[in-house]
Amino acid sequence: MAKGFYVSKVVAIVGILFSVAAVATIIALAVVYAEEKNKNDNSGLPTVTTPSPSITTGTSAALTTPQANEAWNIFRLPGSIIPESYDVVLQPYLKKDSEGRYIFKGNSTVSIKCVNTTDLILIHSNKLNYTFIGEHHVSLEEVNGSNPPRIRKTWLEVLTQYLVVQLESNLEAGKTYKLSAVFTGELADDLAGFYRSEYKEDGETKVIATTQMQAADARKAFPCFDEPAMKATFNITLIYESQYTALSNMPNISHVEETIDGETWLRTKFAETPKMSTYLLAFIVSDFNYVEQVNSVPEIKIWARKKAIMENQGDYACNVTGKILNYFEYYYTVPYPLPKSDQIALPDFNAGAMENWGLITYRETALLYDDNFSSIGNKERVLTVIAHELAHQWFGNLVTLRWWNDLWLNEGFASYVEYLGADFVQSDWKMKDLIVLNEVYRVMEADALPSSHPLTSKEEEVQTPAQISEQFDSIAYSKGASVIRMLNEFLTEPIFKKGLHSYLTIFAYENTIYNDLWTHLQQAVNNSITLPKPVKEIMDTWTLQMGFPVVTVNTTNGKVTQKHFLLDPDLMVDRPSEFNYTWIVPISWMKNGTQESAYYWLQNTDDVNPDFITNEWLLLNIDVKGYYRVNYDSANWERLLTALQNNHIVIPVINRAQIIDDAFNLARAKYITTTTALDTTKFLDKETEYMPWQAALGSLSYFRLMFDRSEVYGSMKKYIRKQVCPLFLHFKNLTNGWTTRHGGLMEQYNEVNAINTACSNDIEECQTMASDFFNLWMTNASNNPIHPNLRSSIYCTAIAKGGETEWDFAWEMFQNATIATEADKLRSALACSTETWILNRYLRYALDPTKIRKQDATSTITSIASNVVGQSLAWDFISANWKELYSEYGGGSFSFSNLITGVTRRFSTPYDLMQLEKFKKDNEAIGFGSGTWALDQALERTNANIKWVDQNKETVHKWFIAEVGNSGSTQC
Ligand SMILES: *[C@@H]1O[C@H](CO)[C@@H](O)[C@H](O)[C@H]1NC(C)=O
Ligand SMILES: *[C@@H]1O[C@H](CO)[C@@H](O)[C@H](O)[C@H]1NC(C)=O
Ligand SMILES: *[C@@H]1O[C@H](CO)[C@@H](O)[C@H](O)[C@H]1NC(C)=O
Ligand SMILES: [Zn+2]
Repeated sequence: MAKGFYVSKVVAIVGILFSVAAVATIIALAVVYAEEKNKNDNSGLPTVTTPSPSITTGTSAALTTPQANEAWNIFRLPGSIIPESYDVVLQPYLKKDSEGRYIFKGNSTVSIKCVNTTDLILIHSNKLNYTFIGEHHVSLEEVNGSNPPRIRKTWLEVLTQYLVVQLESNLEAGKTYKLSAVFTGELADDLAGFYRSEYKEDGETKVIATTQMQAADARKAFPCFDEPAMKATFNITLIYESQYTALSNMPNISHVEETIDGETWLRTKFAETPKMSTYLLAFIVSDFNYVEQVNSVPEIKIWARKKAIMENQGDYACNVTGKILNYFEYYYTVPYPLPKSDQIALPDFNAGAMENWGLITYRETALLYDDNFSSIGNKERVLTVIAHELAHQWFGNLVTLRWWNDLWLNEGFASYVEYLGADFVQSDWKMKDLIVLNEVYRVMEADALPSSHPLTSKEEEVQTPAQISEQFDSIAYSKGASVIRMLNEFLTEPIFKKGLHSYLTIFAYENTIYNDLWTHLQQAVNNSITLPKPVKEIMDTWTLQMGFPVVTVNTTNGKVTQKHFLLDPDLMVDRPSEFNYTWIVPISWMKNGTQESAYYWLQNTDDVNPDFITNEWLLLNIDVKGYYRVNYDSANWERLLTALQNNHIVIPVINRAQIIDDAFNLARAKYITTTTALDTTKFLDKETEYMPWQAALGSLSYFRLMFDRSEVYGSMKKYIRKQVCPLFLHFKNLTNGWTTRHGGLMEQYNEVNAINTACSNDIEECQTMASDFFNLWMTNASNNPIHPNLRSSIYCTAIAKGGETEWDFAWEMFQNATIATEADKLRSALACSTETWILNRYLRYALDPTKIRKQDATSTITSIASNVVGQSLAWDFISANWKELYSEYGGGSFSFSNLITGVTRRFSTPYDLMQLEKFKKDNEAIGFGSGTWALDQALERTNANIKWVDQNKETVHKWFIAEVGNSGSTQC
């Protein structure tokens, strides 16, 4: 799955577990289930056959006292039976039935092979209602004719999500049987399993039936052995009303018309899939249209709402898909495994995207692109998400990790190679550099806390669906990507590719564990390059222990040391590590502008490298290819700062960003002073590149949050104005007064940085420019004169400077927006108002699903909280309405964790802390659901912020004053 998943889906599932709504669902299910149990008990079986007391109570065990020792109370399949092939027929109803529900009907048959003699079949099933076949939920046949064992008893286990089939005698090892079922399920709008998505087109509400199986929801569509290692082939058939179109993983092979209840339905059969995991299945019924790449092999189609296709919003995706597929065929040296590649944009979708084999599903914003409405950032997202999902078609889909504990390798790998695929298409964008900001530095923040965790988890620690969902976090995605990139760099790409190719070839259609990849990379390494240790030994230090090191060099004596880097040195680490938090660190380096070609490997806590003794500037971790931070003796820091001041371009651009990012983090962790960190921003008045600016703005955003309610903010703004003015003028010039766009991705991003920074720090020319553009739009709403790149900044500035008229206009435009990316830009800009009453009204709108989609409620509230005026309003709103919020929005995709984190980010005073503690106490009885962990984090963070502000406020204030003196003009 693509990024974005771990933001929403994890929380959604955890939310379901805790929410009031979910309790109701569980109760409702229990009722259904109790009825089935009754049916089962009255089924005429002679009661004497009930074998043991534990089994008599087995049916209700899951709801009362689980018997841990019974196979059906254990979350993992016993493995005595494996599926070989499924035949699944599904019939979704895209209209409400007489009871006002949306449902689907289904039939399925699975051929299973018995590998160990057993009298028990466990197959996953969740929220399905069965039509009994004879006396039981299922029927059992033996494939070669002779009589199969009789079924003794069948029932559903709600907690472990099994359909349990007890037999009167054993299945024989080596024999094949067929298990069949007839069932119905609800086509709910819960974004999981086989679900319903709705959207409006031309004033009409339209319904789609679609799927999201990962991680453990295929069992909600039909009974199946729902573990990634239980690979099988699938024959999917869909029955649907004839005005719709049906898609699945494979191309369709036949259509037959049928009349059902007087209506014409189509029965479409799809070609048998290769051997694959259940979580990669997909089937969709919609009235979508497509755009295709003509004459391509495989066949490439982009599907979306008819209107979106008509407006050519699928064209960009269609154009790049073929190129990316070609690239990955070359990169893996393995042909694309399927005959076709469909990609579809769904109006309601929880994750960013899902890599279903041959039928990839996306949020609209991750697949559709419109030149008139989308910014270059939207384009980058489309490109990288497509590259990510296509990379999975081999790595993940063709070769699949055996269990979810190794998820990090699947997601980390795709999150790394998405940059390679994207770079191949847009070679002028320098996508491979961006990984440093987007993945490496982003995840280091989380990985520098004692609450982080290692990439790998033990298989037995990942059991329940909730535990599986927890695996999808930024550590898995971004740290996974960072360490795989590091590995690729020290192996070199040819060797990495060679190992990858043999891994993908040997294990095609099978499952692996992460060590299998190390083994194949090692084989590629042997006889071609020299490493200080085997691949596995090096990588174990990065994957089996959490965190990363800070490498410190003393240029006087060449001493090199490493230490576990923790953002807050006062916090204790209670997780032990078998390597005692030392890593095998590949160190690239440069002295006075000359790069050394070989790596220096740091393998212990202390070492001495005579090469590092120098009077010139020394720089480590060139292009931040290694996953660690670097600290120097103060003399070398001074030399680096001087080099930046005198002629910053002697230091590679990524390392200019590194020096800033490392310095601010080292200062937070008290390795260097806060003023040294601030000193690294002094050269920015000469810098026009994106990466250093982005690193600085990111680092200073913490200062803004801590100080924008205090007197420090005035001088801080003055300093930032002084630094950003040259950049603002640079881009004004380059773009002919903001009328043309210039350069590649990073230039365009930095133009936006220039405007954002200039406008939000009160440079008048910037604010006037924004208001003028916005007013021009207001005079002719149907003709937006603002370039999509600049819209977010200009909308926000104009709304902040404007009043009710501007806000109401933007609100109207938001409601009329037909393009998701445009709606998103407006929605966050609406939070920029500085009028209390407007923000309060907007907060109420956020909880009205007729105004703001439920999926967007959290991010709307957190946008309001990120505005200094909105901060306390959002907090008051949430504290006052917690109970209502919690019961109304408990389930689904509502993220309490993002919400709590978002509204407490500024908390940095004892008064804030008191409020937070009171909030926790007052609402203990109601609970915090998916926000429980975030609330504790918020308390911890508030304490840390109080301490930091205490220790730094005065020094920081003085530093800013010393830098700006009495200047502070709002003109450039
Ligand atoms: C699926 O289809 C293939 C090819 O038509 C057939 O050989 C196989 O038996 C089918 N599987 C099931 C479970 O019906
Ligand atoms: C499922 O099988 C039953 C019994 O064979 C049949 O009556 C029903 O129409 C089938 N339903 C579907 C959706 O194929
Ligand atoms: C670096 O090494 C010199 C010479 O041994 C020593 O005097 C100095 O304290 C060291 N600096 C740091 C920061 O450890
Ligand atoms: Zn993924």
